[in-house]
Amino acid sequence: PEPGWTTTADVVVVGSGIAGLTAALRLRDRVGKVLVVTKDVLAAGSTQWAQGGIAAALGPGDTPEEHEQDTLVAGAGACDRDAVRVLVTEGPDAVRELIALGTNFDHDPDGELSLTREGGHHRDRIAHAGGDATGAEIQRALIAAVEQAPEIEVIQHALAVDLLLARDGGVAGLTLHVMGEGQRDGVGAVLCRAVVLASGGLGQVFSQTTNPAVSTGDGMAVALRAGAVLRDLEFVQFHPTVMYLGPQSLGQQPLISEAVRGEGAVLVDFEGNRFMQGVHELADLAPRDVVAKAIMRRMLDTGRPHMWLDARHLGAEFWERRFPTILATCRSCGVDPVTDLIPVAPACHYASGGVHTDLWGRSNVPGLYATGEVACSGVHGANRLASNSLLEGLVFSRRIAEVLPGELRPQLPPVPDARTAGLVPGGLRRDLQEIMTSRVGVLRHATGLGEAAGLLDKLAGVPAEVVDQESWETTNLLTIATALADAALLREETRGSHWREDFPERDDERFSGHFDAVMNDGAT
Ligand code: SIN
Repeated sequence: PEPGWTTTADVVVVGSGIAGLTAALRLRDRVGKVLVVTKDVLAAGSTQWAQGGIAAALGPGDTPEEHEQDTLVAGAGACDRDAVRVLVTEGPDAVRELIALGTNFDHDPDGELSLTREGGHHRDRIAHAGGDATGAEIQRALIAAVEQAPEIEVIQHALAVDLLLARDGGVAGLTLHVMGEGQRDGVGAVLCRAVVLASGGLGQVFSQTTNPAVSTGDGMAVALRAGAVLRDLEFVQFHPTVMYLGPQSLGQQPLISEAVRGEGAVLVDFEGNRFMQGVHELADLAPRDVVAKAIMRRMLDTGRPHMWLDARHLGAEFWERRFPTILATCRSCGVDPVTDLIPVAPACHYASGGVHTDLWGRSNVPGLYATGEVACSGVHGANRLASNSLLEGLVFSRRIAEVLPGELRPQLPPVPDARTAGLVPGGLRRDLQEIMTSRVGVLRHATGLGEAAGLLDKLAGVPAEVVDQESWETTNLLTIATALADAALLREETRGSHWREDFPERDDERFSGHFDAVMNDGAT
């Protein structure tokens, strides 16, 4: 669409969670004008919802090497070892910087930072805030810092539509669709010299997710349409313990943090059996993919739509102090975890894949950087270790801010857009989610994946009658769903969060590395 207004910036940061706001804060006095654009209000993204915490080797006796080892094991042989090394060695300083910025993490009675454990970790290394409101506290501190930085401009309610590209294929700007922001309403263009994508994940591709409504894969789709390479899309992590509210409950579902198991809660089936015992040496605290698979197996074997989490023995006082948010949410859904079992089932939680970047957050498109969940820096491999995601955004945004100022491109004129993004109607979203959940969800096989590809292709042929945010988001969801289903079909093995019923074993001999998605003439 033709832009109705134009503005300029040196760097545009797309997204306002931990990755985006860290990038903006660190770039603000290193480049000229920094503009943050965000699809809803500043706090609407996934960071705000993070419960468990942020992992880093901060405790006595812990080391980056041990954190590295746990990350590599969880990643099931598909991590980029150099990226993991960067994450774990720069992590502790990055968290200290967050504390210096004003984030109030929880402390033990002796005044030391309180650290807990989650699935796949062999040490207590998860820093948390407000008990189970870590993300909200980090988001609060970052927003407060941005509000005190008048040199950072913010446009809220601004959906990134597409990158504007220069003749050399690099970044020349970005088109936005803005709603309710006065003079800049409607479709507009920002001419700029670099774009940092920090727009989060794709959870809304599935019917049930822990992700907020804004997680519609926009950044990944925008990058793909601009010629960026996406990697590892098949590695979508399903969180094992998401509260089950029935099949009709769609969209964002309440997360029951792994930290609840870290503090002693256990999974049981309808007969009260602790089915994680014997499955893994860490039992209920096994890596997330192992727990999600064990729950799904037990659900399939017993014909039940969910399993149970038993955390009654934690007691009312502990629940109120340690997990006030989860307690309130459960109670508002009619379940009191002090006296009741909590119904839980796996739901989509995190995209380990995304825009492929190097160790400094650079994509293959000149001037385009990516950080946080939208990116695939290689730290998560086939399955992200719990609480490594906030850390990834923090560490790699700091890195981008180190290199970007020295490699800023001149402002180049955008060339006319020859791309062919056929918009589909927003009303297709539920169909798309149903296709993905039933055929590209936790359990995958060739027949279902092939069917999904065909059905998604049919949806792509339905033209949108109105051009609005819903149709852009649903088009982005469809673009990413198609690339995800293709990658899932190509990977003929079971590895990490990618579970193929027809190829039940991990196949290190045939494992040929990574599947990249690129877009040619509108198709992946
Ligand atoms: C949780 O609190 O269980 C989520 C932590 C994470 O996804 O890293």
